[in-house]
Amino acid sequence: MTGLNACITSVAAYVPEHKLTNAMLENMVETTDEWILSRTGIKERRILKEKHLATSDMAAEAVNRLLTKRNIDPKSIDLLICGTVTPDMPFPATANLITAKCALTNAFGFDLGAACSGFLFALETGRRYIESGAYKKVIVVGADTMSSIINYEDRNTCIIFGDGAGAVLLEPTTDKSLGIQDSILRTDGEGAKFLHQKAGGSLNPASQQTIDEDMHYVYQEGKHVFKFAVTEMANVCEEIMKKNQLTNEDLDWLVPHQANLRIIEATRQQVNLDPAKVMINIEKYGNTTAATLPLCLSDWESKLKKGDKLVLTTFGGGFTWGAIYLVWAYS
Ligand code: COA
Repeated sequence: MTGLNACITSVAAYVPEHKLTNAMLENMVETTDEWILSRTGIKERRILKEKHLATSDMAAEAVNRLLTKRNIDPKSIDLLICGTVTPDMPFPATANLITAKCALTNAFGFDLGAACSGFLFALETGRRYIESGAYKKVIVVGADTMSSIINYEDRNTCIIFGDGAGAVLLEPTTDKSLGIQDSILRTDGEGAKFLHQKAGGSLNPASQQTIDEDMHYVYQEGKHVFKFAVTEMANVCEEIMKKNQLTNEDLDWLVPHQANLRIIEATRQQVNLDPAKVMINIEKYGNTTAATLPLCLSDWESKLKKGDKLVLTTFGGGFTWGAIYLVWAYS
């Protein structure tokens, strides 16, 4: 132990301009604005329309904003970790492309694949590099271009997902009352069958057959995913709060993965939290997979105060889920 804690010291995000509204989806698949809103809480999502742009471009925009707002020299960044399931290409890692686009010439980088928990798992990884004393400036990115793997003829999935990117800077502090305090992370590969992308990997490399059979799109059995998510995200929040003797009064903010408003509400109810303490922006972005948490932190940054207690929690494909308890380090 070095006596160091890892603190988030800057947050930034980027979402594409183009909005895909529920009304537009009504013209694409058999659905209604009322159904989507009541079953998911989503009104619109952002879509990366420009064909020459990809996940690294959205992420680079978020990272550049992050550096500019704190006037940080790109050369001072040691490491960039990118949580994503929609890399620009299978290799090189999207993190490598981001470091080049942002002139992080002294940083190394790698991607972390944990679907909707990608940012949470990457945050825990970055935290450990900082706590070890090995590195002083680590950028953690959550970025996904879900529109690149969504079948816009499948109403079970196309209504849910959107595109976006967010990034945080992690730096060390010797004040142990600040920064990341605790984490609980979990995976269960038995859940893979309910939510996955069949083709494009070593099991089903791209072929005419994989294209003909729509195997490059997200496959989801929504009901199964919902049942698991609603139980596990709520349980892990309760567990981390109990473990750290945090009451619903103590906690200032719940930052939940934005998959479905009903899952968020069930989690809030289980820990009996005031609705005003829950960050919710699903109505305007949908589920942006690894980007949901940094998009929330960015939207709420101006309201966050030094000393605020936050629980970040996710659930996603894998299955992957977990929670991180942290104390905000700046106002
Ligand atoms: N518009 C209108 N009707 C739709 C629809 C749509 N977009 N999608 C499904 N339906 C229909 C179904 O066909 C079904 O009709 P049926 O009763 O005649 O068979 C009915 O609505 C209910 O479908 P169901 O799948 O039970 O709906 P649901 O309440 O479970 O909501 C999801 C579907 C996908 C919104 C929900 O299951 C969900 O959010 N799951 C979790 C998704 C998630 O979190 N994924 C990411 C993990 S990070």
